[in-house]
Amino acid sequence: MKETNKLHEVKNMCIVLTGASSGIGLEVLRQLAWGKGNRILAVARHVDNLSDFAGNVTPFACDISTREGVDRVFDKAEELFGKIDLFYANAGFPYYEEFNYTDWDRVDAMFRTNTISPIYTYARYLRHLDGRPGILAYTISAIGEMAMPGYAIYSSSKFALNGFQQAIRLEKPDNLQITCLYPVATDTNFFKVANPVEFEKPFPVQKPEHVAKKMIEGIESGKARVSPSGLFGFAKVLMGVAPPVRTVYWKLETAKLERFKERLAQYHERLQENVKTAVEKGREVSETLREKEQDVRRDLEEKAAKVRDELKDRYHGL
Ligand SMILES: NC(=O)c1ccc[n+]([C@@H]2O[C@H](COP(=O)([O-])OP(=O)(O)OC[C@H]3O[C@@H](n4cnc5c(N)ncnc54)[C@H](OP(=O)(O)O)[C@@H]3O)[C@@H](O)[C@H]2O)c1
Repeated sequence: MKETNKLHEVKNMCIVLTGASSGIGLEVLRQLAWGKGNRILAVARHVDNLSDFAGNVTPFACDISTREGVDRVFDKAEELFGKIDLFYANAGFPYYEEFNYTDWDRVDAMFRTNTISPIYTYARYLRHLDGRPGILAYTISAIGEMAMPGYAIYSSSKFALNGFQQAIRLEKPDNLQITCLYPVATDTNFFKVANPVEFEKPFPVQKPEHVAKKMIEGIESGKARVSPSGLFGFAKVLMGVAPPVRTVYWKLETAKLERFKERLAQYHERLQENVKTAVEKGREVSETLREKEQDVRRDLEEKAAKVRDELKDRYHGL
């Protein structure tokens, strides 16, 4: 794909955007919603926060991690717009963790959202275009090109998507532009989703406004790839010519994972203590309740006996 200036200015377009309710997607939505004549189907599982947008944005609650979910998105867009000029598959999520488990479903869930869904979207979009021009955009990740400790499953899901876009570029028809975004750490909900226990983010961290702006410019100029961090681009070149630099970077990130594991162990200890205290408190409360119940029963029995005696006295001999 030739990289020229403003091949397709994003205006007067019918757009589908997934992951539109938060972070990078929400910023892309804000910026595209301003584009003259744009109509946008804004997709996420929870879309309550999108109701304040103007009428050119249609919030659509849908889980894109299944074939049925992606089909529903296409059906809705076709019903609303009749055509899709730009499909931006941005939805995705991370885990930050030590990979030390045998939970098949946990791995499966990530690959369904981050990898299989965008791959299926490609095929579905080509069928929708039927030879007409269109743009497919993906949010991949810098981690989809350089793996990171703590992100084994996430890295592999994004590496797989990156491999897919690389291969499919070689066989795709000319009517389709594919533009991929490779953000470094970006200040979104991503890190809260990755693990509820706080951890150190990889360096550097960017603002979603900047990342979204770079991606829209990249789409408009027909770029194949958009890397919003110049520093990361420079570091990648540096690591290519001087691999020890990468080794040092990885060591620093591995040290962060080690510190996180310690914090997690402390968190679990605290959690166990809290559970123990709650169980003890529960026991005390039920003991007190039992004693109270016995007191009440005794009291009632005494009162009943008294009433019985009184009745016996009053009606004695009758
Ligand atoms: N932030 C970073 O550091 C960073 C770096 C590199 C790449 N990325 C990539 O950037 C993309 C956007 O992430 P973000 O940083 O903006 O995180 P975010 O703030 O957590 O936003 C993720 C968005 O995806 C949606 N989503 C997640 N699973 C979905 C599903 N099954 N169906 C429909 N929507 C779903 C979420 O909404 P609901 O939960 O309501 O569905 C939300 O709108 C992801 O692909 C992520 O992997 C992020």
